Amino acid sequence: MSIINIDLSPMAYKIHIKPLSPMSFNTKIAIITNPKISGLHISYLLKNITAKEIHIITINDGEKYKNMQTVDFILEQLFNYKFDRDSTLIAFGGGIVGDITGFTASIYQRGIDYIQIPTTLLSQVDSSVGGKTGINNTFGKNLIGTFNQPNCVYIDTHFLSTLDIRETRAGIAEIIKMAICFDHNFFEFIKNNNLNDISILQKTIQKSVEIKARVVTEDEKEKGQRAKLNYGHTFGHIIENQTNYTKYLHGEAVSIGIIMANKLALSLGLISKQEDAIITKILQKYELPTYYKIDNIDEFYKQFFLDKKTKNQKLKFILPLGIGNSAIKEDIDEKIIKNILRNFNE
Ligand SMILES: NC(=O)c1ccc[n+]([C@@H]2O[C@H](COP(=O)([O-])OP(=O)(O)OC[C@H]3O[C@@H](n4cnc5c(N)ncnc54)[C@H](O)[C@@H]3O)[C@@H](O)[C@H]2O)c1
Ligand SMILES: [Zn+2]
Repeated sequence: MSIINIDLSPMAYKIHIKPLSPMSFNTKIAIITNPKISGLHISYLLKNITAKEIHIITINDGEKYKNMQTVDFILEQLFNYKFDRDSTLIAFGGGIVGDITGFTASIYQRGIDYIQIPTTLLSQVDSSVGGKTGINNTFGKNLIGTFNQPNCVYIDTHFLSTLDIRETRAGIAEIIKMAICFDHNFFEFIKNNNLNDISILQKTIQKSVEIKARVVTEDEKEKGQRAKLNYGHTFGHIIENQTNYTKYLHGEAVSIGIIMANKLALSLGLISKQEDAIITKILQKYELPTYYKIDNIDEFYKQFFLDKKTKNQKLKFILPLGIGNSAIKEDIDEKIIKNILRNFNE
């Protein structure tokens, strides 16, 4: 049990990591969720909530519904229920529900409060903390969104018991990412323990949230430090895109992306062969993929330029500096990058 504070003056909020306890609201609330999560866990949530009015808004499950149409659907119901500026939304689900709810909360009548109750491992360690909200459109993922911090985050690991094993592993990839980028001791802890044990997993959730809270507090709008959370993502996003967001879960693509970034770091002398090998071994221990066949090197390289981090046609890579530290590197020679991609195929 713990409380982690995020202080982004003038907004400050708490992240509670513990079993849900009774919450009471003297306003109207709407719980935004999807049929799967609702079917499994809504009664447990409702047992812990009292409010002036409670509405449940159920949206479709899946990344393809993380769009303006779903936002519109939610907004319409909020107008029907006559929500006012004191009303509150509760995001009850994984990262998709969280991102959509946060975005809707930031635009309904110029902004109302929202609370995150994340139910996947990925959303507990990453997306529920830090206030990035977003939806997709035909131009790409998360291209529309806001920075909108929640009022509070409640992380209850009870929800994880029903999560698909692949989803759990995808979340573990993000935990490993956090340790490599920011905390050597945390990496050692992961190396020496089994995250399939729920009490160990709980400790790593707590540590990941602490790291994310610290990083976000230092750099809410991603001007520097926060961008490091994208380690493995520059490559991972291309893999997700090339496989139509169907073959790999996000965390799985990040796992491959971590290995690709490591090969680049290795060739630049930023990490050692042993460090690269130990990271690979840990990802494989959780059956995360570490290999991807690149069909067309030039095409893959071109896709780097579509990354949101690319400015003025300058590529940026988040690379590890050993284990527990990382840096943003620019001006890496095209030949070196293509060589890494080519060797990855062998
Ligand atoms: N805002 C951020 O900072 C941030 C960071 C990382 C990722 N994201 C976004 O998060 C999204 C991915 O989130 P995700 O990995 O949580 O996926 P998700 O929300 O799609 O959830 C994965 C699946 O698990 C189901 N599920 C959720 N909770 C469950 C439970 N307790 N038991 C059983 N099934 C459950 C969902 O219905 C879904 O089918 C992406 O859209 C990504 O862009 C946002
Ligand atoms: Zn991610």
